[in-house]
Amino acid sequence: MDPTGPPRKTVWQKALLFLLLQLAIAAILFTYVRTGSKAGASFSVFPMLVSRSLSGNRSVPYLGSSGLTILLWTWPYGIHVGIENCTEVLGVPDCHFTADRSWYQKADAVLVHHHDVYLNAAKLPQQPRPAGQRWIWYSPEPPSKHPVPTFMDNLFNLTMSYRRDSDIYAPYGWLELLDQPQEFTIPAKSKLLAWAVSNWKPSYVQPRIKYYEELKKHIQVDVYGRGHVALPGNRLLPTLSQYKFYLAFENSQHDDYISEKVWRNAFMAGTVPVVMGPSRKNYERCLPPGSFIHIDDFPSPRELADFLREVDGNATRYAGYFQWRSWLKPVHYKSWGYQFCKACRGLQRLPSMYQALPELSKWFK
Ligand SMILES: *[C@@H]1O[C@H](CO)[C@@H](O)[C@H](O)[C@H]1NC(C)=O
Ligand SMILES: *[C@@H]1O[C@H](CO)[C@@H](O)[C@H](O)[C@H]1NC(C)=O
Ligand SMILES: *[C@@H]1O[C@H](CO)[C@@H](O)[C@H](O)[C@H]1NC(C)=O
Repeated sequence: MDPTGPPRKTVWQKALLFLLLQLAIAAILFTYVRTGSKAGASFSVFPMLVSRSLSGNRSVPYLGSSGLTILLWTWPYGIHVGIENCTEVLGVPDCHFTADRSWYQKADAVLVHHHDVYLNAAKLPQQPRPAGQRWIWYSPEPPSKHPVPTFMDNLFNLTMSYRRDSDIYAPYGWLELLDQPQEFTIPAKSKLLAWAVSNWKPSYVQPRIKYYEELKKHIQVDVYGRGHVALPGNRLLPTLSQYKFYLAFENSQHDDYISEKVWRNAFMAGTVPVVMGPSRKNYERCLPPGSFIHIDDFPSPRELADFLREVDGNATRYAGYFQWRSWLKPVHYKSWGYQFCKACRGLQRLPSMYQALPELSKWFK
């Protein structure tokens, strides 16, 4: 036996420990791995887990241009938004973006922002489509807000939305794995429960209003937004961060529709989201199970109120909702330009084979 080397048994024990650790990590990661497959184009993605952020890293090597031109059919909501360099933000060969429609005949793809065309078929491109050109349908909003009329069937080739089964997945936020575990400091808390709501509809239209009406009988809810305490954009995060919990109630319930209410209002502010939206199972595809409280976990608003008070009274328990932050960083989607780069990357990743969407109006429901 080599006296300088470690005893064999220890080596084996270490190897075994290492293996077990690897398995544990793999198991944890696996929870976040999802496979998207659609119309023959199969691809594996970590939809919400990106190991390292490229943005802000100015030393990325320039990967050149993909040679692809993407025509932005409209500026989203008519707002002339910024364009990003896709090499810098996503580490892929860049695309040429233009909103100048004279590029229509030469563009490899046309990106159509759903909201700007859905009310009127005449707002879509009318000229014959150049061979091989792909039309990308893009909606960040759910169908209950802007439904897809049937005139949009049989026109598009690729979907881009918050839905995980989109050809190009463009969620409101995602998680980045930190290079090494970090200690997360919970912002100082002086208040209990907040809600910021701009789109207030009667309770028969929005179940979230009905739930709130009942909840407020059992617990104090500070409501911000139109018709309540005004909250200017630059005060949003500092204000919400003082609260222990935040009502991240979606305006409508759709699979995968997890909006900025969770990613920005709750996570960016460093508060715990109490969510109403898709099922807990659906949330857990995007968020660690212990990072949020789901209203479905309670038989009624009253029990939820009791639970919030209970967690409020136990610092250890409350801190448990931030445990995941030691190895994951939540990122709220960055900009329109960033989303456009996802289209750029999607075009490069997805084989330029024939794909049509005969039933977009049925799919986006
Ligand atoms: C995009 O970013 C890369 C890397 O920073 C840079 O080398 C390149 O010149 C940029 N392209 C454009 C069109 O600005
Ligand atoms: C606080 O919560 C922790 C973790 O859930 C638990 O172990 C502890 O017993 C609780 N303390 C009290 C006083 O309830
Ligand atoms: C895109 O979809 C249209 C309409 O369904 C179809 O005519 C065209 O061939 C498709 N193009 C590609 C590249 O799939």
